[in-house]
Amino acid sequence: MRYDDVSDQLDEILVTEEQLRARIAELARQIERDCDGQDLLLVGVLKGAVMVMSDLSRALTIPLTMDWMAVSSYGHGTTSSGVVRILKDLDTDIAGRHVLLVEDIIDTGLTLSWLRDNLISRGASSVKIFAALRKPEAVKVNIVADYLGFDIPNKFVVGYGLDFAENYRHLRDVAVLSPRVYAESE
Ligand code: IMP
Repeated sequence: MRYDDVSDQLDEILVTEEQLRARIAELARQIERDCDGQDLLLVGVLKGAVMVMSDLSRALTIPLTMDWMAVSSYGHGTTSSGVVRILKDLDTDIAGRHVLLVEDIIDTGLTLSWLRDNLISRGASSVKIFAALRKPEAVKVNIVADYLGFDIPNKFVVGYGLDFAENYRHLRDVAVLSPRVYAESE
């Protein structure tokens, strides 16, 4: 493993930096075709989507703008509460805009489903969903990602923007966090 300092805290690497880059490039081509000349607004969900927003936006070659929301659905635990709070709202009026919501991961899907409904209620012309990762076994609500990077098993993962108690976001790959780490803090 290439993370000498934290390798004893990680069980395995599930998706590598190279796999992420290649898949995002493929999806970017698909988004460009689907957009068909329409201006696009990428809405990233802080903080987890920072890496995927950065990579996706630079892979796209069509006109676009970016905005950010911050919501909280997890606190410091490892399970979704389903209660979403807006910590930072959009700066942009999205009425009439074509929005692509960019997320790190769909776990239960509760956060994205809430966000999608929230953006639609503001009068966006369309709201599509891009998710770098999805845990299929954990999806509780009917949420379909228009663009999906990878399906992963139902394990708690870190890296590529994903954290545990704000740690590990900077790791370049997506790795399974050893349950020892969160067992210690519970
Ligand atoms: P959901 O509402 O259950 O779909 O969870 C959404 C949010 O929970 C994601 O945007 C992540 O920030 C966080 N999350 C879900 N699963 C994981 C994980 O395995 N590692 C780190 N964060 C996660």
